[in-house]
Amino acid sequence: MIISLAVTGLYLYNYIEKSYLDNLKINNSMQANMVSNFVSRFVGTPSSYLIEPTIVEYAKQINARILFTNIDGRVIVDSAPSKEFEGKSIKMYPDIKEALSGKSSTSIHNISGVGWAMYTAVPVISKNNVVGAILISSSIDNVIDLLNSIKYRMIYTFSGIGVLVGFLSLLVASFITNPLKRLTEAANILSQGKLDYKVDVKSKDEIGKLANAFNKMSYSLMKIDEERKRFVSDASHELKTPLASVKALIESLINSRSQDIAFYKEILQDVNGEIDRMTRLVNDLLELARLDKIKSPRIKRVEVSEVISDVIDSLAPLAESKNVNLTFNGKEKVFAEVDPDRFYRMAYNIVENGIKYTYEGGNVLVGLDEDEDNIYLAISDNGIGISEEVLPKIFDRFARGDTARSKKNGGFGLGLAIAKEIIDMHEGKITVESKVGEGTTFKIVLPKRKNKEY
Ligand SMILES: Nc1ncnc2c1ncn2[C@@H]1O[C@H](COP(=O)(O)OP(=O)(O)OP(=O)(O)O)[C@@H](O)[C@H]1O
Ligand SMILES: [Mg+2]
Repeated sequence: MIISLAVTGLYLYNYIEKSYLDNLKINNSMQANMVSNFVSRFVGTPSSYLIEPTIVEYAKQINARILFTNIDGRVIVDSAPSKEFEGKSIKMYPDIKEALSGKSSTSIHNISGVGWAMYTAVPVISKNNVVGAILISSSIDNVIDLLNSIKYRMIYTFSGIGVLVGFLSLLVASFITNPLKRLTEAANILSQGKLDYKVDVKSKDEIGKLANAFNKMSYSLMKIDEERKRFVSDASHELKTPLASVKALIESLINSRSQDIAFYKEILQDVNGEIDRMTRLVNDLLELARLDKIKSPRIKRVEVSEVISDVIDSLAPLAESKNVNLTFNGKEKVFAEVDPDRFYRMAYNIVENGIKYTYEGGNVLVGLDEDEDNIYLAISDNGIGISEEVLPKIFDRFARGDTARSKKNGGFGLGLAIAKEIIDMHEGKITVESKVGEGTTFKIVLPKRKNKEY
């Protein structure tokens, strides 16, 4: 940038200098030619006595010194009052030499003690012969001074601009680099585990957008981390309860003096029940961990109405044991591309809830429908319903309603979380409507995913 400024400045100055001096040269040549024309008309005539006073007068007018030499280079007229050169030969001056050979010439000299001068020499031609030369010498000190002052002014201006440009580029660079530095620092802090760290960049440009994205990312990371911590603590808590029961039961066995085998059997059955519960929890946790990892499910074209029938068949004993009417009232021969095991699991968890959270003699109805793009699954019951406070949380891991929590053999609050993950994986949607004391309806929409690649 600075170099290009300097080059431009130099070029500009050369251009100005050249045009000034060229102008001056043309001017001087014109004057010299005028004098030479005049002299050639009078030389060798009776009026030649007019030559000297006219040259002297003209020299005064144009503020220059004019010398007129004969063909030998001897000065006939010197316009200066001292007439210093009159009678002397100035043949050796290069400009005179040129002029006497018939060519015009101009040169610039710095004469010590006098200053800058421009010499212009032209031949005096009479009847096609060179008969002498005219040399005009004019001071160009003022022009040189002017050029110098232009030169210095340009140097100052251009170096000023250079400094300014340099300063501005530093400023702009620091505007860009400072927020970037802050972002780098924030990224380092984040990588050390301080996930809620935010960068403070308020600009609206690309860097501002980057900082915003960064803050959003750190917020999401913090949320994910919080969720993970809660999940681990909930999971350990859930495991602790059956473990504590197993330990208490086994201790009661160790400390018992009873000889009654039935007593031991009963306690061992309780231990067995607790182990089943723990196994179920561990299986659910493993399933969730797997669902987190799997991004592309094992999709097949499946008769989903058959899968729903299987779910109903396997839950029939539970429904029977609770005297709940479990009915399928939906379309047959409905096909969709789903992961069959996961689809089964999803439907199972929701139908199981319907049975679990319904009073004796209640009803659980499973409906299935389809259109060109989607399948529609609805599971409704006329059971206990879900309170408004619990409703928004039921798809969270370990979320349980009060009734479910207080029940001795209540679930873990993982069934719906798993179902939701499976529905998300199929790019479907689940909604729930519920009223305490009246019942609950879950509605699921899954795309059939025809012609989609996996
Ligand atoms: N059909 C329903 N009627 C009333 N409440 C329900 C129904 N389905 C779910 N809930 C409420 O939502 C909570 C979460 O259900 P979810 O299936 O995730 O857990 P769970 O049934 O308690 O345990 P798990 O399914 O892990 O054995 C339940 O504890 C219950 O309070
Ligand atoms: Mg459940």
